[in-house]
Amino acid sequence: MTQKRRIPRLLQFALIILGVYFSFILVFDVLLGQLIPKSLLTMYMVFVVSGVLMVFTFTDEGAQELIAPIKALVEDPSKKIIRNLLFVILPILAGYYTHTSMLPSFDAPIELRTIHPAPPSNFKAFGKSFSLASLENPYRKFEKEAPQYYRELIRDGGDIYIKNCQYCHGDKLDGKGPYAAGLNPSPINFRDVGTIAQLQESFLFWRIATGGPGLPAEAAPWISSMPVWENFLTEEEVWKVILFLYDYTGRQPRSWTNE
Ligand code: HEC
Repeated sequence: MTQKRRIPRLLQFALIILGVYFSFILVFDVLLGQLIPKSLLTMYMVFVVSGVLMVFTFTDEGAQELIAPIKALVEDPSKKIIRNLLFVILPILAGYYTHTSMLPSFDAPIELRTIHPAPPSNFKAFGKSFSLASLENPYRKFEKEAPQYYRELIRDGGDIYIKNCQYCHGDKLDGKGPYAAGLNPSPINFRDVGTIAQLQESFLFWRIATGGPGLPAEAAPWISSMPVWENFLTEEEVWKVILFLYDYTGRQPRSWTNE
């Protein structure tokens, strides 16, 4: 290493890395017309950086030469101003980068949303397993057997609804609760004929108990804000609120017999 280099090794190193990076982009995006995935590019670059680093630090001299400018920047008293400037700018840049990369995107997913995905045949809630085919509302029979008791159950269901659901689904069950405007997908309008009238009570029970996170993969990537109510309500409360939904909207649940 007697001969004086024109380009400092650190700059050489940076130029090689940048050169390889832009070659990848040139070959893939421009020549092949295939946008290279970010994760793949990152992986390639990790190999490139480690490879080039190995070559550059093969001898002790080489390694020292590579880090000399960095060492000088930190230790050399004459570089105090640049050093202080960098120590201010770098954290700001890192902070800015982190900030922008964490900003949520409000674009709707490209995929169409499956509003009523096929339910699973079994699901877990309240610490047990339910089979959707045989699941029935245990209170439904009181509609005919004990109408007065049935009205009480509906009143309970209404209380549960106003305390928990109206924020999103609206006090008139029209999906226009105070939070609704900020949500996408929007809370369901239960008065719409396309919703609960088309569904069985067991389907509602599944949806209410397991919420947005309980939706199967086909409903993704739309992230539903519908809460997981098994964490806040009892099984009985869920059945009562279902009674209320049908009663208030004047709809009948779909059943195996009246399909
Ligand atoms: C934080 C807002 C929010 C609250 C509170 C909320 N929901 Fe929802 N709910 C939604 C959203 C959004 C959807 C539509 C997306 C989906 O299907 O998950 C939905 C969907 C549903 C569905 C599915 C209807 C269908 O046609 O598939 C049912 C049933 C339901 N909610 C019942 C309830 C009940 C009962 C409560 C109260 C115990 C409640 N929700 C509270 C946001 C909410």
